[in-house]
Formats: sequence, C-alpha cells, structure tokens
Amino acid sequence: MKKDIAPYTALFPHPAVLVSCGSLESPNIITIAWASTACLDPPMVSIAVTPTRYSYNLIMETKDFVVNLPRASDVRKVDLCGSVSGKDVDKFKECSFTPEASTKVSAPRIKECPVNIECYLDKTVHLGSHDLFIGQVASVAIDEEVLMHARPDTDKLNPIIYAQGVYYTFGDIIGTHGFSMGEADSE
Ligand SMILES: Cc1cc2nc3c(=O)[nH]c(=O)nc-3n(C[C@H](O)[C@H](O)[C@H](O)COP(=O)(O)O)c2cc1C
Repeated sequence: MKKDIAPYTALFPHPAVLVSCGSLESPNIITIAWASTACLDPPMVSIAVTPTRYSYNLIMETKDFVVNLPRASDVRKVDLCGSVSGKDVDKFKECSFTPEASTKVSAPRIKECPVNIECYLDKTVHLGSHDLFIGQVASVAIDEEVLMHARPDTDKLNPIIYAQGVYYTFGDIIGTHGFSMGEADSE
C-alpha cells in the first residue's frame, strides 16, 4: 500500500560538494548538495542555488565557479560552509582552506580538495526557490593521491554523500555497470 504525499523533490542521495566562487582576493565557499552532471559532451555540470545566497551574486558577477570534491574527513567543514554565509564569515579562513588560482576561471579553487572542476557559467535557468547554474567544464585538476587511470579513484577520494539531512560515506559495492548483461563497463 502506497500513500500519495504533497509534491516535493523526493530524489536522493546527493553528493555534498564545495563550490568556490568570487575572486582570489575575495573568495567564498558554498556547500551544495544539488549538484549534478548535466552533459558528457560538451562536459557540463549543474548546481541549484537559492538567489538569496551570497554566492549567487558572486557567480552571476564572475560568470564562473569551481566545484570542489571534498574528502569525507572534511565533513565538518562542509557542514560549516553550508551553515554560515560568506557575507558574515571568511569561510576559507574559518576552515583553514587555501584559495589557489584556478587554471582557466577567475573563481579560485580549494587547494585542500583533491578534485577541482572549473566551470564557466553557460546558462542560468530561473526556476523559483533555486536557480540552476549550468557550467561548462573548462578544466579539471585531480590530486595524484586520488588519481587512477586519469580519473578520481572512489575509494581513495572517499567522497561525501548527503541524504535527507544526513552525511554518509559509501557502503558496499552491489554491482558494476553492465554486470546484469555479463559485461563490465566503467561508466
Ligand atoms: C549539506 C548541505 C547542502 C546544501 N545544498 C545547497 C544547495 O544545493 N543549494 C543551495 O542554494 N544551498 C544549499 N545549502 C545551503 C547553503 O550552503 C548555505 O545557505 C550557505 O550558508 C550559503 O552560503 P553563502 O551565503 O556564503 O553563499 C546546503 C547546505 C548544506 C549544509
């Protein structure tokens, strides 16, 4: 027996990522759970941001941002960057994160995050409580510590998963792409 409830975005889990924005001189970080791959070719990612966030205008001004993948060990910092605003707090300083120059975009990346996905803002889709920023990936930096066959290694990175207000790390592997067909595929 199922019960129909009022419409809401009942979709989870999400990655918990740190999006850096602004400039090297005046950088900010916002924690984002509503981040996703949008297109493979050209490579595009999306982030959903509430227009009242301090980061929203920074991204609109520079027309770029960096999606940084944090390690699970940085979960406290991820929570902090999602709980205070850059208009009141220097989150780089508060988290002992180092802003470093990106390769392609003006927004700085977070040195301590092992994966940095630099994006040019391609489109802004105005939706309501959140607007969707669609970014074209301009450059990706991966720490050699987590690098495996030119991709981040899931176990080495140990990313953060967010589901209904709770932070998790990965659990057991229950299959691999194509295994139902007797095939193995890495995508
Ligand atoms: C785990 C987590 C995920 C979040 N995901 C989003 C999100 O996807 N979009 C958004 O607009 N805010 C999200 N937030 C809220 C912002 O990170 C939070 O309001 C932050 O303080 C805004 O910072 P800013 O004012 O410096 O931009 C999230 C917060 C947490 C803790």
